[in-house]
Amino acid sequence: PAAVIVGIDGPSGTGKSSTSKAVAAKLGLRYLDTGAQYRAITWWMLNNGIDVKDAEAVADAAGKPEIVSGTDPAAPTITVDGADAAAPIRTQEVTSAVSAVSAVPEVRTRLTELQRAIAAEAPDGIVVEGRDIGTTVLPDADLKIFLTASAEARAARRSGELGGKEAADLAATRAALVRRDAADSGRKTSPLAKAADAVEVDTTELTLDQVIECVVTLIEEKR
Ligand code: C5P
Repeated sequence: PAAVIVGIDGPSGTGKSSTSKAVAAKLGLRYLDTGAQYRAITWWMLNNGIDVKDAEAVADAAGKPEIVSGTDPAAPTITVDGADAAAPIRTQEVTSAVSAVSAVPEVRTRLTELQRAIAAEAPDGIVVEGRDIGTTVLPDADLKIFLTASAEARAARRSGELGGKEAADLAATRAALVRRDAADSGRKTSPLAKAADAVEVDTTELTLDQVIECVVTLIEEKR
């Protein structure tokens, strides 16, 4: 079959990453986590003393770090200037700062170019997950999925992922998640939004396996 390009968007805690990785692995496609790239550039800004609230400073630095994404769904990788960034991009500090950095147009232009190049190079196709894949990055994708879930379900899933002490504070997790989604949806440049031709899947009442099955079926119908 011809290469298939799939975009999976939606707010945090809807199961985007788990779904995208599993679907890509099942169908022999590459996988790209664009959120990891926004986190990576944010991590670099924090490490280099750039005030993430200063949009001009962020814009000036946007081209500086070299970000490389490995697209094997079984073992996705991300490096910044050659350093493994997989763990540090998941810290609370990065999570709190990422929406400000990703709202800066120069950051988006840079990463959008990188994402398009990676998608174009995938031999059999790719599953790309993010917030603006269907609307901006890959408007001609063969299939666009928009995952949703209630704020309660999303907070519970995110809490489960965090584990330990943070898991206890469901209310705080929910508040932080709702704040980040509002920032991502409300920004001027390429906000989190469902493309007109995207298929919306509400995952609130579904297990991960059911969501994976649903997306696999939708892709197979396109191939
Ligand atoms: O998916 P994840 O939660 O790792 O994404 C982190 C952040 O990166 C999002 O909250 C959003 O600010 C930004 N992002 C974006 N556009 C994308 C993917 C992620 O702005 N395509």
